[in-house]
Order: sequence, then structure tokens, then C-alpha cells
Amino acid sequence: MNLRSVAADPTAATTAPTAELVDATASLGGRTVWSGVNLTVEPGEFVAVIGPNGAGKSTLVKVLLGLLPLAGGEARVLGRPPGEASDRIGYLPQRRSFDPGLRVRGVDVVRLGLDGDRWGVPLPGLGRIRRRRGEDDRRVDEVLRLVGATGYAQRPVGRVSGGEQQRLLIAQALVRRPALMLLDEPLDSLDLPNQAAVAALISSICRDQGVTVMLVAHDVNPILSSLDRVVYVAGGGAVAGTPHDVIRSDILSRLYGTPIEVLTTSDGRLVIVGHPEAPARNCDRHRQQG
Ligand SMILES: Nc1ncnc2c1ncn2[C@@H]1O[C@H](COP(=O)(O)OP(=O)(O)O)[C@@H](O)[C@H]1O
Ligand SMILES: [Mg+2]
Repeated sequence: MNLRSVAADPTAATTAPTAELVDATASLGGRTVWSGVNLTVEPGEFVAVIGPNGAGKSTLVKVLLGLLPLAGGEARVLGRPPGEASDRIGYLPQRRSFDPGLRVRGVDVVRLGLDGDRWGVPLPGLGRIRRRRGEDDRRVDEVLRLVGATGYAQRPVGRVSGGEQQRLLIAQALVRRPALMLLDEPLDSLDLPNQAAVAALISSICRDQGVTVMLVAHDVNPILSSLDRVVYVAGGGAVAGTPHDVIRSDILSRLYGTPIEVLTTSDGRLVIVGHPEAPARNCDRHRQQG
């Protein structure tokens, strides 16, 4: 029920997990979304958060951001209580798409990651940041190159494709050199080739930039091969482990309440067959969610 081992350890600054939940309970509108959740994410890991619609995946992200206090248990993020390390977190909220009429340019969307008030927490020292405009310009250019968005960054963001919009939002989340990126369904509403390309981009950011990534995914297949850990949120709880420990026919079938088969290919990859909420049904899912 507490984190005495983390709090009391003088070496915690170097050894602390990037995110940790201990016997955590989250409630919304007086209803428990999940409880008894234990989770440890180590620095540099690539973690997928999956589970059925409404299970509480976005709720988990909001807890880690400090936007939703736990109803029970303990949470630490980057060695501190949630919300206290927000300047070291890059966040991509769950969304549908930009309005096609939106005139804001892609490059402005990325710059918001440096200047903006991203989730209701005013940034201290904006004056200092403004004086570093040239440095900011270079950093924005750098992340635009990194995500491959330089070619369309000057266009209105409402007029670029869904995959291009996601790359710009990933650049926004990355621009302040976060230690942790929380990406809520960044592959949602993308076609399969774009899912694979954006997943590969996120995976390479995790490996090459040393950023810990927690990615909420609807379909785990596009990222399965690069994952270190999977968190399944379902049935009022969550199970965490390596993909091979957790992505098993018995666990997934129980989780989703329908037969699901997990196959291992000759090169050792896991393939999930019979996933009950295929990406093609995402539109319906979002309408229900409102
Ligand atoms: N502000 C709210 N008040 C009450 N219930 C909410 C609120 N936001 C979400 N919920 C409910 O909490 C549950 C978990 O939501 P969410 O974390 O968004 O699920 P997921 O991201 O896994 O689809 C859902 O049943 C949802 O309807
Ligand atoms: Mg969600």
C-alpha cells in the first residue's frame, strides 16, 4: 500500500522506475474503474497498454499525468508523485482528428509542445523560453526531421493526412526532450501501412532517444515485435508482464470474453487471431465513447 522502498532508497534517483503503481485504484464519477493495480515501468522500456473499450486505459494515462488522483494505493512517476514531473512527460491525448478547416500549421503544433500550456498546467519561465527562440527553432526543426514531417510542416494541420498529423503530434510530445512519453491511441484511425510506419517511428524514438514510451494501443500487432512490456487493462483490473508472459490465448480469451488465439511465428513473433475489436470498427467505438 505504500512505496517506502522507493521513498527511503537513497539511490532511488538513479534506480527508480519511470512509473510505478502499487495497489492502485482509480474512480470516475463515483465508480471504480480499476483497482488493485500493480505496475512497474523501467527507464527506456517500450510499454503497450491495451484492453477493451472503456476498461480504463486513458484513465491510467491520466493518473500518471497527475490529472486524476488515485482513489487508493500509490503512484510514482519519474521518482515523484504524479503531476510533479509533468515537464519531463510528453503527452499525446486520445482524439479523432484535426478539423479540416484548421489553419494552424504543422510547425505551430510542434512548437506548442515547447510554449504551450498542454494540460492545464501553466509553464513557469515562459519569458526565459522566449529569449531562447533561436534554440527553440533549431529543436523544432530537429524533431520535425526526426519524425519525417519537414516536408509538410508548413501546411495547415487540418489538410495533412491522419498519419502525418500523428507524426506532428508525436513531434510535439517529443520536442521538450521528455523522459517519458504517454501516447493515447496514436495508431487509432490510421490505415495498416500508416500504423506500421508510425509504430516503427515510436519504437525508434524509444530505442534511439532513450525515451520511455507507454503507448495505448487498440491492436497490439503493429508494435508487438518491439515491446518490452504489456499492460492489459480489463475487468476492473490490469495485468502487466512481458508480451510472452501476458499475450497468451488463455489470458486474452478471459480478458475479452471471447476465444482468442495467440500464434507464434517461425521468427518468434506473436500473432493475435480473432481480436474482438478490429481497427475497422474503431469508428463505432468512438461514437459510443462520445
Ligand atoms: N469523467 C468521467 N466520469 C465518469 N465516468 C467516466 C468519465 N470518463 C470516463 N469514464 C468512464 O470510465 C471508464 C474508463 O474510461 P477510459 O479510461 O476512457 O477507458 P478506455 O481508455 O480504456 O477506453 C469508462 O467506462 C468511461 O465511460
Ligand atoms: Mg481511451
